[in-house]
This record gives sequence, structure tokens and C-alpha cells, in this order.
Amino acid sequence: MPAPEPVSLTTLARAQGPRGELALRERRSPGTAPVHELVVNGAFAMDSAEVASERRLAELVAERGRLGRVVVGGLGLGYTAAALLDAGVQRLEVVELEPDLVAWARAGLTEQLGRVAADPRCTLHTADVVSWLEEAATGWADAVLLDVDNGPDFLIHPDNARLYSAPLLARALALLVPGGLLAVWCQGRTPELQQALTRLGPTEEVVVPVRRGRHAIGYAIYLTTAPAIVQP
Ligand SMILES: C[S@@+](CC[C@H](N)C(=O)[O-])C[C@H]1O[C@@H](n2cnc3c(N)ncnc32)[C@H](O)[C@@H]1O
Repeated sequence: MPAPEPVSLTTLARAQGPRGELALRERRSPGTAPVHELVVNGAFAMDSAEVASERRLAELVAERGRLGRVVVGGLGLGYTAAALLDAGVQRLEVVELEPDLVAWARAGLTEQLGRVAADPRCTLHTADVVSWLEEAATGWADAVLLDVDNGPDFLIHPDNARLYSAPLLARALALLVPGGLLAVWCQGRTPELQQALTRLGPTEEVVVPVRRGRHAIGYAIYLTTAPAIVQP
């Protein structure tokens, strides 16, 4: 058998910030579409080879008819945001910590990021989603979607632990209209988070089975419905 042709890896953009290295890379293999990779805080955060769960996060909200005003925490490679736009969201607020990533999206460094940034329904905010949620007005959003870490047990930044604390989860729910949805993406089932959310409102666990190479993975998404009145 001939040796497989080498895979090329190109750095599209790179920045060194207070939280470490941020990089956007493109991986090419013969005969396949290019794959984009995002490095955050010096560590591999995600790639575009398999984005079913990132899109599913958006689809679950769309299927439940919550496509008015929606907040997404964590831009990443833009797949959750793009799926919301594809589903017909009316207003989308995307909150992203890394200013360079927002700039790369506005510059259209990948087709997907450029499409999200250019959509007139979407506003990109450069902010820590924890602070953003603390300062936001209450009672206006149809859904708040959080995908800033691999989940509470695998944080991209240590400070993000606060996001999964009971007061911050309650604060996120307080942004919602009654019946609105808080959706949290996790790298696997996370019973502690499920319990914390269940104390705040009816909570559904959706496991999204995904194959990455030879590995079968079950990502988990938690969906909490805002009760009529939430004490932030
Ligand atoms: C795994 S990616 C999100 C993937 C995204 N759902 C998609 O479809 O491509 C996580 C993103 O959250 C951002 N992030 C991490 N901590 C954050 C915070 N505290 N506030 C806002 N964004 C944050 C990272 O910079 C990164 O862009």
C-alpha cells in the first residue's frame, strides 16, 4: 500500500494574549474538505471535522420554538451560531471572550465565521460571558446557550468555574422569558450540573452520540426551562 499523503497544517492566524495562545489553523488532507482547528489558551479547543453536537445545541432550541432573541456564550468556529441563523433566529447575541477571534470572524478568516459575523441579525460582543450575564437585563431572551468550555469538569479557563455555580446559572435563567431555555453543552454526562439545573427548573438531558475516528463519544446537552419567576 502506498504511504498516505501527508496532511498539511496551516496557521491562518495566531495571537498571544493574557490567557495564552489563540490560534486558528487549517488542516488539509487530499480529497477531503479543509478542517479548521481552534486553539484556545494554548490547548486544542475544537475542530470542524465533527460539529453535530455544536449544531444540535442550536437545533434543540429551534425545535422548541425558541428563536426570538437568543444569546450564545462562546463563538468558537461559529457552528452553533450558524445553525441558529439557518433555523431562522430573529436576533442573536454572541458573547466571546477573545477579541482576536471576534476580529478574525469579522475579517472572514473562515467561511463559517465570516458568515456569522456578516449576518445583520447577529451582534458579536467581546466580553466574558460571566460578566455579561451578570450585567444583562432580565426577562427578554428566548434562549441562552452556553458552550464556552468542554463542560464544568473540563474548563478552557479556570475562571469559568463560576459560570456553573448556582448563582450564575440562576442569573442566566433570569435573562429568559417564562418558558425560555437555558442550554449547556458538556463533553459528557455531568450529573452535578444536571442536579444544579434541576433545582432551578425542569431539566432535560440530551446525549448526542458522535464518532471521532475510532472513538464513540456521547456529548451531553442540558436544557432547563425557565419557570415563571426566577430569583437571580
Ligand atoms: C468550544 S468553543 C465554542 C464552540 C461553538 N459552539 C461552535 O459551534 O463553534 C468555546 C468558545 O468559548 C470561548 N470562551 C471561553 N471562555 C469564555 C468566557 N468566559 N466568555 C466568553 N467566551 C468564552 C472560547 O474563546 C471559544 O471561542
